[in-house]
Amino acid sequence: MTRESWTTRTGFILAAAGSAVGLGNVWRFPWMTAQNGGSAFLMLYLALVLIVGVPGLLAEFVIGRRARRNPVGALSSLSESDRWGVVGLIPVVTTVFLLSFYSVVGGWILRYLVGSATGAYFDAPGAYFDSIAFGPEAVAFQAVFLAATAAIVFGGVRRGIEAATKVMMPAIVVLLVGLAAWGTTLSGAGDGLSFFLSFDAAYLRENFFDVLGAATGQALFTLSVGAGTMITYASYLGEDRSLAADGATIAVFNTLIGVVAGLVVFPLLFAQDLPVGESGPGALFVSLAGAFSTLPAGRLVGVVFFGVMTLAALSSSISMLELPVAFLVDEYDVERRRATAGLAGLFLVFGAVNALRPAVFDFVASTLVDLLLSLGLLCFLLFTGWVLGTDATEEFRNGAGSLGRVLALPWLYVVGVVLPLGLTFTVTTGVLGVANVSLPSAAVAALSVTAAVAAFVGLRRSRSVL
Ligand code: PHE
Repeated sequence: MTRESWTTRTGFILAAAGSAVGLGNVWRFPWMTAQNGGSAFLMLYLALVLIVGVPGLLAEFVIGRRARRNPVGALSSLSESDRWGVVGLIPVVTTVFLLSFYSVVGGWILRYLVGSATGAYFDAPGAYFDSIAFGPEAVAFQAVFLAATAAIVFGGVRRGIEAATKVMMPAIVVLLVGLAAWGTTLSGAGDGLSFFLSFDAAYLRENFFDVLGAATGQALFTLSVGAGTMITYASYLGEDRSLAADGATIAVFNTLIGVVAGLVVFPLLFAQDLPVGESGPGALFVSLAGAFSTLPAGRLVGVVFFGVMTLAALSSSISMLELPVAFLVDEYDVERRRATAGLAGLFLVFGAVNALRPAVFDFVASTLVDLLLSLGLLCFLLFTGWVLGTDATEEFRNGAGSLGRVLALPWLYVVGVVLPLGLTFTVTTGVLGVANVSLPSAAVAALSVTAAVAAFVGLRRSRSVL
């Protein structure tokens, strides 16, 4: 059977942008910011989107379009080595963890969408979150969210993912801009801004490696980089056009949506005098529910807001499910519908653990996902720089304009050398953190450099390209 491909260039861009724009922009971002010292985190995060996220996104595009296969098949076929195929299993594992907690939050969103219409949370917006967040009912709503995700992936690349994101993305933009316009009419918009523009240098200095790791993770999370989803989406590209231009478009769009979402959320919170700096996955829900329950037309605004969030969450969750589906379809010839249904069921089992155990959810959604995305990206970058080498620059140049052609070589050095050095720091800190070992910064640095050099030497001996 011939492999599917996107119908149009816009179709690919919308699908990839749909993967990027999601709960990361609206829900995870304020949570991570509050947990990591506020404004210092924000600045670092924005810089990292540009420095690590965009070159990383392009590396995934290059691998995907070159191989026209899922991440496991892509790494093994391009390197002609099954060992790289084993490395390619990391993204499969990552998407399992991603979707297992993302679908819990998707369930919360659906619950609040219904709750806004019926007014269910209006009497006790604070206590409501705690009463619904974890437990059997959370599993039920999670199941609905997973079923909706599977229904789209069921339809395939063109009739499922492309057709859905073509409708969802414009709807998100229109509704969100409408909400933001309404948000600026609330008092408190200015206070919201100044909270974010103050810079806490002392906090950053004391917790540098931790904040760096979290900011890197969030930068990758928001762009859907490091999970292999962008490899998968780019593998459905039929013709050559500028990957650099498409990547830049997606990154700019994702950041703009983040800013516009901020224009909706922060005035709402400040107009209500609600605690913005409060940490935890539920803080945003509690605060917004408080706002919607007191504002005039709060019900309507609540429905629109959680409606937008539902669309944004679904356009991302389908990309998480598509990766393992593509893996089963490409590598084992499993029929797409069977693969989709089977995996959705499996994810519900894994996901239910997150929906029943808040501690598991917290660990997976913050620490573990950050670490897996950084680790996955590190592997993709080393692969691009040291296995693909000049093939990568050639692929980068295919269909690119004159600027893209000039950028290809500097890009290869950035992804092959500079970023892997940096990412080994965040991965090392992350692993030490998970293992609960605390070492002085100098030791972490020494360990990371040793690991990076060992990786370079090993790769150079297996095939020297750079
Ligand atoms: N980028 C998505 C968001 O912001 C999350 C995501 C991460 C999707 C990794 C796919 C892969 O919500």
